[in-house]
Amino acid sequence: MPSDLLKDAVRVDVRTGAHVSSILIGDGLADRAGEIFDAHHLGARRFVISTPVIWRFHGERIGRALGGVEPILIPDGERFKNLQTVSRIYDGLIRAGADRGSAIVSVGGGVVGDTAGFAAATFLRGIALAHVPTTLLAQVDSSIGGKVGVNHALGKNLIGAFHQPEAVLIDPGLLATLPRREFRSGLYEVVKYGVIASRDLFERVARESTAIFARDPGVLLPAIVESCRIKAEVVSKDERESGLRRILNFGHTVGHALEAVTRYRRFRHGEAIAYGMLAAADLAVARGALADRERQALSRLLAQLGPLPPIVDLPVAEILEVVRRDKKVVHGKLHVVIPIQIGATLTIDDVTEEELQAVLERLGLQKRKGPG
Ligand SMILES: NC(=O)c1ccc[n+]([C@@H]2O[C@H](COP(=O)([O-])OP(=O)(O)OC[C@H]3O[C@@H](n4cnc5c(N)ncnc54)[C@H](O)[C@@H]3O)[C@@H](O)[C@H]2O)c1
Ligand SMILES: [Zn+2]
Repeated sequence: MPSDLLKDAVRVDVRTGAHVSSILIGDGLADRAGEIFDAHHLGARRFVISTPVIWRFHGERIGRALGGVEPILIPDGERFKNLQTVSRIYDGLIRAGADRGSAIVSVGGGVVGDTAGFAAATFLRGIALAHVPTTLLAQVDSSIGGKVGVNHALGKNLIGAFHQPEAVLIDPGLLATLPRREFRSGLYEVVKYGVIASRDLFERVARESTAIFARDPGVLLPAIVESCRIKAEVVSKDERESGLRRILNFGHTVGHALEAVTRYRRFRHGEAIAYGMLAAADLAVARGALADRERQALSRLLAQLGPLPPIVDLPVAEILEVVRRDKKVVHGKLHVVIPIQIGATLTIDDVTEEELQAVLERLGLQKRKGPG
């Protein structure tokens, strides 16, 4: 790749087997999407998948950078992350004569990336893929690591594949139009990376949250870079989640259960994860694995970032029921990633239901009624 093309971009590689995905991060990179994809030999014909909302904001600019494109627009929102939408993408590809040498470029948040990525993984047994993530969550999390897929009426992300992108082009400037609540939801995943792997990142978010919310590129960009580095490193060591990759699930056991019992309507993903991180930290303190001042630092940072939707009306029993059904339970014992300090974690595999119940009650959920 010509070096001047990327002299002001940061490059992070994800290596899985013989495959290398390059993640390129830089302010204004979206304007150079065409040249960057050319340099990565990304398919002769590129099919952009986006939604009307996102394309209205950024389509003109990205379309121009790609030398003019007719995007395949899919409906916006988690409820359209399904096989019917994938089928619409196939229709568009087939009608336009896409072939094995074609590539899909997703322009959007995690919903678009996961759905378009699944279409790329399956169309003609797999065609090339690139992501241009437009939410903070997609820039630091969902566009990296190759997990693609859609929901089934009976559960989230039940249908999927691993399909690594050739390139991920991250332009924090695209976040200027992102609603504050969506932005904050992504920021909780940044906090997650801090807790699992980098005290420095954690402290930076705490110190510079105002500038981060103002989307000041000088502050936001390094936080995104650091998050991408952490995810890339974990995925490069364990693509298929046989061990290490599980640390990325920190906060997700309780988080997913909160999302499920509220039918994915109350919380943005990151908000549920914020509660999940608090629960995991509380469990860690109860076990004597984490100093209480570390838990308090996490709790303070989350409070500083903004309000979370209420949980007081959610019954502990329902959360426990979802967790019990969750695949992380083996022989009645739960696997949970807990922090042992800000920046380091441990996976424990012997959490009992009583222990989790006590944690959830302390978190403020509706107590389980005693017998009789
Ligand atoms: N594949 C993975 O590894 C992975 C990891 C984490 C999450 N996910 C998935 O990601 C999805 C959540 O992604 P998300 O949080 O990005 O939500 P999302 O894709 O639904 O986007 C949130 C909202 O923001 C809008 N939006 C997107 N970019 C915008 C912009 N630049 N300006 C203004 N509005 C914009 C969208 O139209 C949408 O309404 C979930 O389906 C989750 O399962 C996948
Ligand atoms: Zn998450």
